[in-house]
Amino acid sequence: MAPEFTNSNGCPVPDAFATQRVGKHGPLLLQDFNLIDSLAHFDRERIPERVVHAKGSGAYGVFEVTDDITDICGAAFLDTVGKKTKVFTRFSTVGGEMGSADTARDPRGFATKFYTEEGNLDLVYNNTPIFFIRDPSKFPHFIHTQKRNPQTHLKDANMFWDYLTSNQESVHQVMILFSDRGTPASYREMNGYSGHTYKWSNKRGDWHYVQVHFISDQGIRTLNNEEAGELSGSNPDVAQEDLFKNIAKGNGPSWTCYIQTMTPEQAKNAPFSVFDLTKVWPHKDYPLRRFGKFQLNENPKNYFAEVEQAAFSPAHTVPYMEPSADPVLQSRLFSYADTHRHRLGTNYTQIPVNCPVTGRVFNPHMRDGAMTVNGNLGEHPNYLATSHPIEFKNFNLQEDQEVWQGAACPFHWKAEEGDFIQPRELYKVLGRYPNQQAHLAHNIAVHVQAADAHIQDRVFEMFGKVDSRLGEAIKKETLQLSPRKL
Ligand code: NDP
Ligand code: HEM
Repeated sequence: MAPEFTNSNGCPVPDAFATQRVGKHGPLLLQDFNLIDSLAHFDRERIPERVVHAKGSGAYGVFEVTDDITDICGAAFLDTVGKKTKVFTRFSTVGGEMGSADTARDPRGFATKFYTEEGNLDLVYNNTPIFFIRDPSKFPHFIHTQKRNPQTHLKDANMFWDYLTSNQESVHQVMILFSDRGTPASYREMNGYSGHTYKWSNKRGDWHYVQVHFISDQGIRTLNNEEAGELSGSNPDVAQEDLFKNIAKGNGPSWTCYIQTMTPEQAKNAPFSVFDLTKVWPHKDYPLRRFGKFQLNENPKNYFAEVEQAAFSPAHTVPYMEPSADPVLQSRLFSYADTHRHRLGTNYTQIPVNCPVTGRVFNPHMRDGAMTVNGNLGEHPNYLATSHPIEFKNFNLQEDQEVWQGAACPFHWKAEEGDFIQPRELYKVLGRYPNQQAHLAHNIAVHVQAADAHIQDRVFEMFGKVDSRLGEAIKKETLQLSPRKL
């Protein structure tokens, strides 16, 4: 039977399109709740879009433990080989607005919520193993330069390269961005990386620094600059379409999950800081160790309810998985829940896609607020004190895992010569594949040709420090595309 139409209050409405008025063609009546209520609701349909990662696609799936890593991590969802946990993943581009093209040259977000028996674990990753910054104070500056000019409201090559050449610790990430990996062919055909170092411990209290890699079982497929540009006009939603249709026809994508680990001793002796988000851990020194696999196999029933309202945060974690002292990660622990309170409201964890499945959310001092829909813990007292005993779970965590000491001082982590070592390695990696070094130079040149000459010169110089051939190739093509007036 077809559903019966009602107003938002549940009252049956005889005709959805009969507006109340004086006579057949006279003015409307304010008493027409069906009309007034539906216009007022329509006026409020939009919530703020995410300030970054606004355009995205999401799906549910299942994670399964394939290999025992209980020597590294005591989290309950990892305690048995074969154990399964429901997940929800949202992929995204970073800089564009909600309607922007899926094929934009941009990192891709890769955020996964694990609905574990110890609460929700969010692994909020990107498709690149590093990032542009290693000091969080730069994030708003950096993001502004990738978005629109405050006056022209246009993307601006001067702003873009002015920032990046002034903050050259970003050169490693900029190279990945301008390689063909900066334009993935689909969300299914790209990897996910923690980027940051995390700190995982086992139930004995031993701990390791950890980096996580989700390697695509579909393989990596990328677009070249021209294919990506063409698709942004002909099918700007190509990645959403690809993901939704593949899952709908039973061809859900999967990723195999690995960790790299370091003991605290190894970290002290590493040639880079493990808290430096612009550095990878070389595979040969820190080999990948497999622990799981997840497959996305269920499309959301409603995009707004489940994908737009999904709220991920690196601070949503479970016992035995902790953040490291990476300052960018530490700042992210604050920023995400803060933006959720603004974007979705203070009770964002009550929205079904964000709600833990444990049935055990019990923090009786956090009550009330807009859109309290979970019963609000009924008559239970809204404070903790002796008269109302509760239990605390005991974890066997070492209390002196990391001991920090030092004067409180401002520290400016400036770019240095060492920041060019790994970019040089990456340039060699690109040289293993046909045309990849040439594509890198071309992809940069077609972008930087729109910048002013003095900014272009800084770009040639920066990439020349990675490899003089790269600097020269960018310069040659840029000057062909935007000849200088003598
Ligand atoms: P390896 O030779 O062991 O690994 C190189 C890695 O580069 C590959 O495993 C692959 O990572 C990645 N890669 C392959 N093709 C491309 C491409 N076109 N664009 C970007 N990345 C690509 O060397 P190292 O581990 O010593 O790393 C060398 C350089 O490779 C690093 O400086 C870094 O720039 C880059 N890299 C390293 C990663 C790491 O975790 N060590 C991860 C990704 C890149 P994958 O298997 O993850 O696809
Ligand atoms: C989204 C802040 C760095 C991955 C966001 C959002 C904010 C934010 C405010 C919007 C969240 C929302 O509205 O729901 C920051 C800050 C950073 C930082 C302040 C650095 C100081 C990073 C890094 C990564 C990352 C290094 C990856 C390793 C993501 C992802 C999303 C996101 C995947 C989208 C989540 C989703 O799909 O809803 N970030 N970010 N961010 N960020 Fe970051």
